[in-house]
Amino acid sequence: MTKRVFNFSAGPAVLPEAVLQAAADEMLNFNNSGMGIMELSHRSTWYQEVIDSAEAGLRKLMNIPSNYKVLFLQGGASMQFAMIPMNLMKNKKADYVNTGAWSKKAIKEAKRFGEVKVVGDSSDTTFSYFPKLDPATFTKDADYFHITSNNTIYGTKLMNLPCTGDVPVVADMSSNILTEEFDMTKYALIYGGAQKNIGPAGVTFVIIREDLIAENPDVPTMLNYKTHSDAGSMFNTPPTWGIYILKLVFDHMLKLGGVKYYEELNKKKAKLIYDAIDNSKLFKAHVKAEKDRSLMNIPFFTDSDDLNKKFLKEAEELEMVNLKGHRSVGGMRSSIYNAMPLEGCQKLADFIIKFDNDNS
Ligand SMILES: Cc1ncc(COP(=O)(O)O)c(C=O)c1O
Repeated sequence: MTKRVFNFSAGPAVLPEAVLQAAADEMLNFNNSGMGIMELSHRSTWYQEVIDSAEAGLRKLMNIPSNYKVLFLQGGASMQFAMIPMNLMKNKKADYVNTGAWSKKAIKEAKRFGEVKVVGDSSDTTFSYFPKLDPATFTKDADYFHITSNNTIYGTKLMNLPCTGDVPVVADMSSNILTEEFDMTKYALIYGGAQKNIGPAGVTFVIIREDLIAENPDVPTMLNYKTHSDAGSMFNTPPTWGIYILKLVFDHMLKLGGVKYYEELNKKKAKLIYDAIDNSKLFKAHVKAEKDRSLMNIPFFTDSDDLNKKFLKEAEELEMVNLKGHRSVGGMRSSIYNAMPLEGCQKLADFIIKFDNDNS
């Protein structure tokens, strides 16, 4: 039997086993073409069906209205940090919420293209809460309002958007796309890297309302949303393998009951781990307020570096890997994306309880 462990990596991360198996089965011979998917021309009918099916799957899962375009790009979420202001800044003003390392990077890029107002900031406590947002402080004629909906490193999230009036909401959903239900129409642009919840590294998803796609003659061709929108994400060679895996993941998700199914499961998974931490004597969660807690990334720690190290070592011996916290927070972080099974979270919760009893 193939060795499989519980992989709590923050990304690239665990993928559904059924998807990996299906991809393995088709590796040499896709759809009886006699060629592997990686060997197929992106201009072939076979491949067109794959990318169309990936887009249709995502549209169905997220209930994406027809006035939005779905783009599969490259360059990661990090490239979107620049592409967004390049394409959207007309008045050269945008509001950003600073909730961690990724927001900071997005802000830094946006500042190259216009004026950035930071309308919420939780840097005072190593981003351990989601800052309170007051729409009265927002820029009325901003080109957009940017938020990182789930903070992978610090484990906070926000899905109840503040009222931004006519100002379009742009969200980095790298680490929580398709993990809980939300109303797409409240957002104008959603983006992220695929490598946490929906596929391998190398594909960047952008879901953008059509009215935000403009000619922008000053924007280089490859950085212009219009280029990719007009060409159905095939202006140049797309990341064919990654998009194929996305299609398999979306099919798998739809079969199991879509985002609703995952939201219920994700809530159970996160609760198991948070309860174990909160009820322990040794462990503390980085994010205290329940309403701010991410369902995807749970940073936690003990007050002792030695105990943290011991915990990580023993967890690894029990085949629970990649639990080391980000260097800016320390301790541990369990990333429990959609494909992490409930059993993995149960096993981790049981181990937290046992470790607490044995060491306190
Ligand atoms: C919330 C968030 N935004 C952006 C990024 C950067 O993504 P990429 O590596 O795809 O550029 C990450 C990566 O972990 C992330 O978690």
